[in-house]
Amino acid sequence: MRVLVINGPNLNMLGAREPSYYGVKTLDDILEALEEAARDLDVELEAFQSNHEGAIIDYVQANAPDASGIIVNAGALTHYGLALRDALIDSRLPIIEVHLSNIHAREEFRRHSVVADVAVGQIAGLGWKGYLYALEYFADEMKNRG
Ligand code: DQA
Repeated sequence: MRVLVINGPNLNMLGAREPSYYGVKTLDDILEALEEAARDLDVELEAFQSNHEGAIIDYVQANAPDASGIIVNAGALTHYGLALRDALIDSRLPIIEVHLSNIHAREEFRRHSVVADVAVGQIAGLGWKGYLYALEYFADEMKNRG
């Protein structure tokens, strides 16, 4: 099982960026922990980060055909990235939306997600472990399907 882990704009700045919202781990720290968990769960992870919506769309189009699911933290694109939303729909893959912070407890504009209704579910506010729980969900679903 191959799962894509996609991070959008500014998530390359994790560690230095508003730690009270996003924690102190860098994106590399998070991906390292995820890789370790993926090995235990027998899942193949493919990670991608970009600050550009078009680059993320290109990545989804190129990689979705060989993947079984997508974990996505679209950063601020979450709130207005309609082209990314369309690419996620076109992937026909199950999607789990992850946010480090609880977007529902912050500014009004963060409460709306254009990804939420095309996702299986959303994990928000649980910090970096949100990615881990999303990965565990996919591994578990896969196992249940045999
Ligand atoms: C975020 C929340 C977004 O509103 C913000 O623009 C981000 C990070 C999160 O992980 O909490 O870049 O997606």
